[in-house]
Amino acid sequence: MEKYYLSLGVWRCLKKQNNYFMRRIFFIALCFACLASFSSSAQTPKNWLDTKGHVINAHGAGVLYYNGTYYLFGEIKKGNTWRVPNQDWEDYRVPAGGVSCYSSKDFQHWKYEGVALSPVKGQPDGDLDTGRVIERPKVIYNAKTRKFVMWMHVDKKDYSYSQAGVAVSDSPVGPYKYIRSVKPNGNMARDMTVFKDDDGKAYLVFSSDNNNTMDICLLSDDYLSPTKTHVPTLVNRRREAPAVFKSNGKYYLISSSCTGWSPNAATYAVADKMLGTWKEYGNPCTGPGADSTFSAQSTYVQWIKGKGFLFMADIWNKTDLEKSTYIWLPLKVTNGGVMINNPVK
Ligand code: DGJ
Repeated sequence: MEKYYLSLGVWRCLKKQNNYFMRRIFFIALCFACLASFSSSAQTPKNWLDTKGHVINAHGAGVLYYNGTYYLFGEIKKGNTWRVPNQDWEDYRVPAGGVSCYSSKDFQHWKYEGVALSPVKGQPDGDLDTGRVIERPKVIYNAKTRKFVMWMHVDKKDYSYSQAGVAVSDSPVGPYKYIRSVKPNGNMARDMTVFKDDDGKAYLVFSSDNNNTMDICLLSDDYLSPTKTHVPTLVNRRREAPAVFKSNGKYYLISSSCTGWSPNAATYAVADKMLGTWKEYGNPCTGPGADSTFSAQSTYVQWIKGKGFLFMADIWNKTDLEKSTYIWLPLKVTNGGVMINNPVK
C-alpha cells in the first residue's frame, strides 16, 4: 500500500512539472515493479532450494501444520527415469526414493529434516522396495494417540497393486514406521490425500476402481485403518491427484483428469459434508495456461496464516522425473466458487 501511495506522489509531482519524458520512464519502471511483486506473491518455486541451498525434493507433496511449524512431506525422486515396457500409458518410473520432510515457520524458508520414511533395497515383494512405487504421502496428527500418521499410495511398477500404505511416528519429522498397506473396503487405492476435519475425524480420499471413481473413506479413531463408512464419489469421472480443503463450512475437492504424467485441466467439486453429496464444477484455473493447470497437477491446498489458501501442484518432467518442479499459487474462494490464477504470464 505504501508503495502505491509513494508511486502516486511521484506521478503527480512529475505531472505538475509537465515532465513527459520522466513520466514515461517512471511508468515503464512502475510496470516492471508490478510484475516483480506479482511474481513474488505467486510463489512459483521452480528452482526451489532449501535453507542449505539444495534443491527441494518433495513431489506429490502434502503439508502438516503442527505447533506453529509447517512440515512438508513429498516423494523423493532421484535417479534415472525409465519407461515400463508393454504399458499403453505413460508409465515412466524412477526408483522409489521414500518420503522427505522439510520444516518452515513462514512457508518460504524450508529446512531439510531428512528422510521421514526410508525405502528398502532388495525386498522386491515389500511395499517399500526401491523397485516399487511410493507416491503422494500425506501426514496428519492424531491428538488422542499423540502419533503422526502418514498415508501414501504404494504400488507395483505397473500400478496393478493399488494399495494405501500407512506409517506412524512419535515425531512430525519421523522416522516413520511402516505398518502395512490395505485396499480400503476391498477397493483399489491409487492417487490419494488425507483430510482432517475440525472435529478430529479424518478421511482418506483416493482414486479407486481403476481410477474411475474417487472414494472418500472415514478413518478409524487412531487414523490407522479405513472404516466401513465410505462414499464412492465423482463416479465414472476418472479423476486423480485429489486435494481437499474446507472454507466457510464447505468442503472442496480439486482433482485432475488421468493423463499419466502429462498435465490436463483440473476441476473442483463442492460438498456440505465430507461424505457428500459432492457436486462437480468446472476448472478453478483461469487465464493463460488454465487448460493444463499451468502445466501442473494438483497435490495439496494449504491455508497459510495471514495469507490465505495456497494451491500446490507438480510440474512433472516425465522423461526425467528427478527434474520435476512445482508451482504454488494463491487460491481464492468467492461466493462458493474456487479461483486459481497464475499472475506470472
Ligand atoms: C498421475 C499421478 O497423479 C501421479 O501421482 C503418478 O501416479 C502418475 N500418474 C503416473 O503416471
